[in-house]
Amino acid sequence: STSPVKVAVTGAAGQIGYSLLFRIASGSLFGADTPVELRLLEITPALKALEGVVMELDDCAFPTLAGVEIGDDPTKIFDGVNFALLVGARPRGPGMERGDLLEANGGIFAPQGKALNEVAADDIRVTVTGNPANTNALIAMSNAPDIPSERFSALTRLDHNRAISQLAAKTGAAVTDITHMTIWGNHSATQYPDLFHALVKGQNAAELINDEDWLANTYIPTVAKRGAAIIDARGASSAASAASATIDHARTWAQGTPEGDWVSMSVRSDGSYGVPEGLISSFPVTVENGDWSIVQGLDINEFSRTRIDASVKELGDERDAVKGLGLI
Ligand code: NAI
Repeated sequence: STSPVKVAVTGAAGQIGYSLLFRIASGSLFGADTPVELRLLEITPALKALEGVVMELDDCAFPTLAGVEIGDDPTKIFDGVNFALLVGARPRGPGMERGDLLEANGGIFAPQGKALNEVAADDIRVTVTGNPANTNALIAMSNAPDIPSERFSALTRLDHNRAISQLAAKTGAAVTDITHMTIWGNHSATQYPDLFHALVKGQNAAELINDEDWLANTYIPTVAKRGAAIIDARGASSAASAASATIDHARTWAQGTPEGDWVSMSVRSDGSYGVPEGLISSFPVTVENGDWSIVQGLDINEFSRTRIDASVKELGDERDAVKGLGLI
């Protein structure tokens, strides 16, 4: 029998954790034949609630769940982990400036990066879901000099899935008819969902819709502001869909992209498409044997260029801010 894959989840007692842990434990990440061991990190005051979640995990009697460990010390919880899903983050409080938010999160992601650097398994792969996800991933990566930088990523798969779902609704197609979707830039309101390369049943989506006004004034804002719309409706931020996207992202990373398609992942830029090297930005990527590569050679038109540049500028500003704070 195979030895268990060790998966760390931070913020495990939070909303996303409450959905994510049960999906991982039931085999959604690596399949029914691969046992998983969960390593759950929380802050000290949340450990009691986390114990309750672990009681529920026990009560599911999942055949694939080989063990659960919880704690508040990243150097213990990350010991030997193969995947780290960094979900726990500091939300923006009332009156909090962007700089305060970045600083508070630096206080989380710098030590977690250092701990991963010290104790994680050699094949560690890190996905940051906690916001501001791209810059938190940059902070963790910069604090883990011994881990190859391509092992760090941030989640833009939820945006990707939202973009597919909205396009399916517009065209009457099934989500499975849609391929080659791309989210560019930052996981924020400036993100750019690109229909100029997306295909609906093999047909170019932008040509099929042929309505730039809808694209600019309905589609892009609907995808980019979907998180706010869910908060308005539900009274709480998206959790099950964020957990599902985190699973999709990690599963794609482990198992690869389907032949002839790609997904969106925020990864370290090598300068492709004019995105400054070193920024963690969303790109179209293919994955093979656990390694991603940025899809090359796509034509970027004027409409797309302006929007990619705006989102990437925001990422550059965030990087400058955390650099100014000494976090990277
Ligand atoms: P939540 O507030 O319900 O849970 C966050 C948990 O993280 C809390 O239990 C908290 O105690 C824990 N935590 C805080 N600091 C920690 C630390 N240093 N170590 C370990 N745990 C820590 O929030 P929720 O709804 O689960 O969301 C988590 C994060 O995911 C938020 O930052 C949210 O903005 C982000 N998010 C990202 C999405 C994306 O697409 N990238 C989509 C939706 C949410």
